[in-house]
Amino acid sequence: MPALAHKRPRPGDKAIATRDKLRKSLLKWYDRNGRDLPWRLRSGKPDPYRVWLSEIMLQQTTVAAVGPYFAKFLAAWPDVESLAAAPRDDVLEAWAGLGYYSRARNLHAAAQALAAGGFPPDEVGWRELPGVGPYTAAAIAAIAYGEATNVVDGNVERVMARLYAVEAPLPGAKAELKAKAGALIADDRPGDWAQALMDLGATVCTPKSPKCKACPWIDDCAAYASGAPETYPRKIAKAERPERFGVAFRAERDSAIWLVRRPDKGLLGGMAALPTTEWRSEAWTRAEALKHAPAKAKWREAGAVRHVFTHFALTLEVYVADAAPKGEGWWGDARALPTVFKKAALVGRQ
Ligand code: ADE
Repeated sequence: MPALAHKRPRPGDKAIATRDKLRKSLLKWYDRNGRDLPWRLRSGKPDPYRVWLSEIMLQQTTVAAVGPYFAKFLAAWPDVESLAAAPRDDVLEAWAGLGYYSRARNLHAAAQALAAGGFPPDEVGWRELPGVGPYTAAAIAAIAYGEATNVVDGNVERVMARLYAVEAPLPGAKAELKAKAGALIADDRPGDWAQALMDLGATVCTPKSPKCKACPWIDDCAAYASGAPETYPRKIAKAERPERFGVAFRAERDSAIWLVRRPDKGLLGGMAALPTTEWRSEAWTRAEALKHAPAKAKWREAGAVRHVFTHFALTLEVYVADAAPKGEGWWGDARALPTVFKKAALVGRQ
């Protein structure tokens, strides 16, 4: 072998050196600044049940909102067998208020598959389960099993867009941003790497007023060098959220209210609810709305609540009466209701 042959530069060496430098500085930052979250273990073997449960709850939901629900679920169902054996309505009830209710239905179905078939050991296996999309499968495989997957959520997209000052706007730039994140993957500490990127995005590289002075990548960041890091990622303007209107009926008996279960399919599927008209793009007249009342009674207009869903904003008028509805439903209270109906259950009360 010629002298110094092993030192001859090979194509890609520079890219690897850059990758390794970025990895080292971010992992070091994570060791000091990573968030202490209830589903994270700083030592020992991660529990796939906790990792899966937390990742499902964290879909489209903040860490702050998830915390109490995660604790409540673990206290009620400490392992996948107990969750699988729970009545589905108990699981939906415990989920009330966290939003995106198909997650709770899928969680329960997936618990049954996991209890029967065991926990899949890799990303591909996790993809088979209800409620587990590509992002969640990658996150679970990295965090619970140490697989070197590419875990890319909105936070990570933002970090990549800034690090490399990507000019292509979202959502079109998603594939490019994912490829950039993929080029930073290595076999060393995959779960910590994924969570370090999430934490950097959530606490330092924030959408508004990023805290660049606290960033381990300040000297590597092209958006910082540009002088306007907060202008990345570039975005194309979003279409406005459509407005919808509905009327909900609050039949009252002493302190109880009449509740119905929503159909499994569709928004808030399977959740307890107040009876309501359809939610449509024109407001309802009183005469029209009353055709959908669950009972004949002197309905009084108690006010309206507003709730913003992902794809539309709803103004829900609330009619109240001492009424005795018949048919499928039960007398209950507001506790197990999704947020929009919780608001409707409370509006106009002293
Ligand atoms: N968002 C989704 N998964 C997360 C995790 N494991 N830690 C922090 N934020 C997250």
